[in-house]
Amino acid sequence: MQAKGADRERVLEVLHDVTREAVESASEATGVAAADVYGTGSFYTLLDGERRRTRVCQGLSCQLAGAVDCAERLRAEGHEVEWVSCLGQCDRAPAALDPELEVLAPRERGAVLPDDPELPVNLGGTDRPPGEALARARALGPEGVLEAIEASGLQGRGGAGFPAAIKWRAVRAQADPERYVVCNADEAEPGTFKDREVMLRRPFLLLEGLAIAAHTVGASEVYIYIRGEFRAERRSLEAALAAAGEALAGLRFHLVSGHGAYICGEETALLESMEGKRGMPRLKPPFPTERGFRGKPTLINNVETLACVPSVVLRGGEWFRALGRTEPGTKLYCVSGHVARPGVYELPLGVCLDELVEAAGGYVGTPQAFSPGGASSGFLPMSERRRPLDFRGLAETGSMLGSAGVVVLNESVDLAAAARWQAVFFEDESCGQCAPCRIGARVLRRALDRYLADGDPAALDAVDDVAWEMREGSICGLGMTAALPLTSAREHFPSAFGRRGPDA
Ligand SMILES: Cc1cc2nc3c(=O)[nH]c(=O)nc-3n(C[C@H](O)[C@H](O)[C@H](O)COP(=O)(O)O)c2cc1C
Ligand code: SF4
Repeated sequence: MQAKGADRERVLEVLHDVTREAVESASEATGVAAADVYGTGSFYTLLDGERRRTRVCQGLSCQLAGAVDCAERLRAEGHEVEWVSCLGQCDRAPAALDPELEVLAPRERGAVLPDDPELPVNLGGTDRPPGEALARARALGPEGVLEAIEASGLQGRGGAGFPAAIKWRAVRAQADPERYVVCNADEAEPGTFKDREVMLRRPFLLLEGLAIAAHTVGASEVYIYIRGEFRAERRSLEAALAAAGEALAGLRFHLVSGHGAYICGEETALLESMEGKRGMPRLKPPFPTERGFRGKPTLINNVETLACVPSVVLRGGEWFRALGRTEPGTKLYCVSGHVARPGVYELPLGVCLDELVEAAGGYVGTPQAFSPGGASSGFLPMSERRRPLDFRGLAETGSMLGSAGVVVLNESVDLAAAARWQAVFFEDESCGQCAPCRIGARVLRRALDRYLADGDPAALDAVDDVAWEMREGSICGLGMTAALPLTSAREHFPSAFGRRGPDA
């Protein structure tokens, strides 16, 4: 129970560590019981002072690029090293973060192509303070903007592809006049680093999209929840907010940094975190559009979704829709792994893998498999290389476009080892509140450990049953999809899961 007058929301703002001293001081400052403050803080890896070491990324792309060697090298240089889930630097793998959370990587950030002013986001373009599109939105009025978004067919770019117009209308239709707009900038899906580029290169564009969203749904408070490791990205947004000045008059912007928990990208976990709690997803319904931040109607959109909005308003919904091939608009595809030029490519929604990789300079080695949309999308065989990378087409394969973090694996990769890397990720990142997810993720990782140690496929006998239970018994997308890397790899690459070793 929380004491009357306690300032729960400030807990994560004032807590910088989970030492006894830090917890007691945060408890004193907020009025929340010390045990409760500790329970909240210990959920987040960036608040664990014991772990203030160099963090080496164990995400798929970094593993492919030699994360183990990178960790060894850093240890030899005197770093105290710990493994962490994906750092969102797949284009410069293998990556690490120093104790101050600055990136250590062997190369600069990847390509952002093409550079074309006719593209809605155009990462390579000149970023100008909010102005023209916002003025146009004001002239159109909320209904005019909603009509443009509807005509554009814009689908949310955070993973689920939910139509933006439906969500915006739902918030606008609420009777409660206190409403919020929240930008999900928690980008932490392995293979994904597009929102990072938007924040670094087009912060004004994002702010303008947010201002239009707030104007349309009738909100005056805007929150941007930024992944805690994204220090440079936060600085970029702070600078843009300071420079935007009067252009954003009438709106209050708040930047909230995460504290190192992948699950906080899930929208209701994100809201819990903003309210100063452990980032555990809520049961839905009610959806955030009805009861979101502080129990009030809340519009939550991904960075890329919001960055598309200014051009939709300026050039019209039909213009945006026509840019897509199989579904509306362009898409920021991230590509990494075994390709010549990892990076973010803004291409018509619905290009296929071969086209994306051609833009990225071609395959490195002979491609064997790809993961089309982050860890949650599993692995697909190269027979799918000409399938449109869109929401509908990939769902038909049992996979998903998700956040469009495409990772290519060539024939040098052991698919069972790759499935294990993904299993480790989900085991580490499960919030633990649903038993099927919490226990199932561990069971799958252990089954893979046994199989890789003994080479006996019997170690994997229970996988399909466990996967079913996780899918059916989990309350959020993490648990529902966590088994997919293993089940899809077994389905499409059975030879990678046969008997191994001298008796094979
Ligand atoms: C486990 C999990 C992680 C997620 N991570 C992110 C994320 O990092 N960024 C994001 O925008 N959406 C993420 N989502 C999707 C959000 O819950 C939500 O659907 C999205 O922010 C809505 O924005 P959109 O409609 O613009 O896509 C995640 C979902 C799940 C289940
Ligand atoms: S499915 Fe997993 S991550 Fe999602 S709420 Fe349940 S335990 Fe947490």
